[in-house]
Amino acid sequence: MRSHLGVSLLVVIFIWSFFSLVNNGAQGKCLDDQRALLLQLNQSIFFGTLSSKRDSWRLNTDCCSWGGIACDRAGHVISLDLRFEWGSSELNKSSSLFKLGYLVRLNLAQSMVDYAIPSGFDQLTNLEYLNLSYSGEFGQIPIEISRMTRLITLDFSRNGNSGSYLTDPDLGTLIRNLTQLRQLLLDGVFLSGQATKWCHTISSFLPKLEVLSLCECGISGPFDSSLLKLRSLSVLQLDDNKMFAEVPKFFSKFHNLTTLHLAYCELYGKFPERIFQLPMLQSIDLSWNDRLQGSLPEFPKDGLLHELVVSFTSFTNELPNSIGYLKFLSRLELRSCRFNGSIPTSFSNLNQLEHLDLSNNSFTGSIAKIEWKKFRKLVTLELANNLLNGQFQRVFSPYHQYHT
Ligand SMILES: *[C@@H]1O[C@H](CO)[C@@H](O)[C@H](O)[C@H]1NC(C)=O
Ligand SMILES: *[C@@H]1O[C@H](CO)[C@@H](O)[C@H](O)[C@H]1NC(C)=O
Ligand SMILES: *[C@@H]1O[C@H](CO)[C@@H](O)[C@H](O)[C@H]1NC(C)=O
Ligand SMILES: *[C@@H]1O[C@H](CO)[C@@H](O)[C@H](O)[C@H]1NC(C)=O
Ligand SMILES: *[C@@H]1O[C@H](CO)[C@@H](O)[C@H](O)[C@H]1NC(C)=O
Ligand SMILES: *[C@@H]1O[C@H](CO)[C@@H](O)[C@H](O)[C@H]1NC(C)=O
Ligand SMILES: *[C@@H]1O[C@H](CO)[C@@H](O)[C@H](O)[C@H]1NC(C)=O
Repeated sequence: MRSHLGVSLLVVIFIWSFFSLVNNGAQGKCLDDQRALLLQLNQSIFFGTLSSKRDSWRLNTDCCSWGGIACDRAGHVISLDLRFEWGSSELNKSSSLFKLGYLVRLNLAQSMVDYAIPSGFDQLTNLEYLNLSYSGEFGQIPIEISRMTRLITLDFSRNGNSGSYLTDPDLGTLIRNLTQLRQLLLDGVFLSGQATKWCHTISSFLPKLEVLSLCECGISGPFDSSLLKLRSLSVLQLDDNKMFAEVPKFFSKFHNLTTLHLAYCELYGKFPERIFQLPMLQSIDLSWNDRLQGSLPEFPKDGLLHELVVSFTSFTNELPNSIGYLKFLSRLELRSCRFNGSIPTSFSNLNQLEHLDLSNNSFTGSIAKIEWKKFRKLVTLELANNLLNGQFQRVFSPYHQYHT
């Protein structure tokens, strides 16, 4: 009896949560004021000629069904996705865009807002997602952004060539109150005056951070151990900064790390091998750090690595046989390092490989023992400048490039 009751209760809970899920997903009909704002906005949108959205923005239709729009149940516009579309020179503080006060997500990436970024964003007090990447030369990022305290994602990447910067406000002032941020992407934004202070700034204010991307930001090392506060970090991308630093051992404590990109960082010293063994790691790129030493450790049996790139470093030694465990590996680039020994036979297990570059190392032995015909996805294969011998069976299609 009791167990029956338990089961029916479970069923009720299940049905209830099912319906509440469905309901949450439901959209209401567009409210008049929201439609009016969108129509005003439409005056300044330049829909690309290939735009699939353009034709859906039609009078006498429910604006919640227009391309790039999502509404809540009451009919408020909560999401606006105008990637590639915006071509306005008229985005200013009084734009109707900033009157869409229910917006939770706003994506203006790859638009052409090639003017200074307007100061109206803080009117969007509910915004959780703001994507302004690849959009223009913004100059100074305005202080208004620092008041958008509900932001979870802020992507300001790649706006012009050093065309964006954080001077006044600086990084600390910008993020001080953005404590909900989980994704911060500022690639190409010059973080002036940060030098090595960035570690401390970010780890003090953004405890929930999962994605941190600061490529080409003019920051430098050493890495401060305060970074360890970022326990949820899963993506760390710092390519193209003159770090002049060693990679600290504590990086191997980021248990949720999936992506570590540190190319062109002027790193030196011995790279902590345990980082390669992190259980969630999918992509690691340490290339173009010619003074960075290290070797590849034994890999875990259920390794998830897709990309392993250490080209143009001082990595040395033989490849471990356990590299064959990396059954998801699609990119393996070890070009111009100092690897030696023979290519392990376990290589034949790497049948997801698309890009393999072992060139310009000291690999020895025969390549004939590798079952190359298993590499059906291979697009590039570079083995030149080694001490390898042996022949391929003719297994590659004409589309493959290979150099030996
Ligand atoms: C949006 O603007 C374009 C260009 O000004 C116009 O052709 C189109 O009819 C407008 N759409 C709506 C729904 O008003
Ligand atoms: C903002 O742009 C509109 C045109 O879209 C213009 O009429 C208005 O005067 C501008 N406001 C300011 C404060 O520049
Ligand atoms: C922002 O938009 C760009 C372009 O569509 C996309 O590549 C990028 O992943 C987006 N950023 C985030 C954090 O979603
Ligand atoms: C952050 O919030 C505090 C308290 O609400 C406020 O005094 C301060 O001015 C805010 N800082 C920024 C940069 O907005
Ligand atoms: C690591 O990821 C798992 C699964 O996504 C999550 O449950 C866990 O809370 C994360 N750990 C931290 C410290 O964020
Ligand atoms: C490979 O290089 C390492 C150090 O650079 C050396 O100790 C080792 O003997 C070399 N192994 C072979 C097989 O040449
Ligand atoms: C081969 O690697 C060495 C360093 O190990 C580098 O100096 C040289 O430029 C590389 N050659 C090519 C063709 O990449």
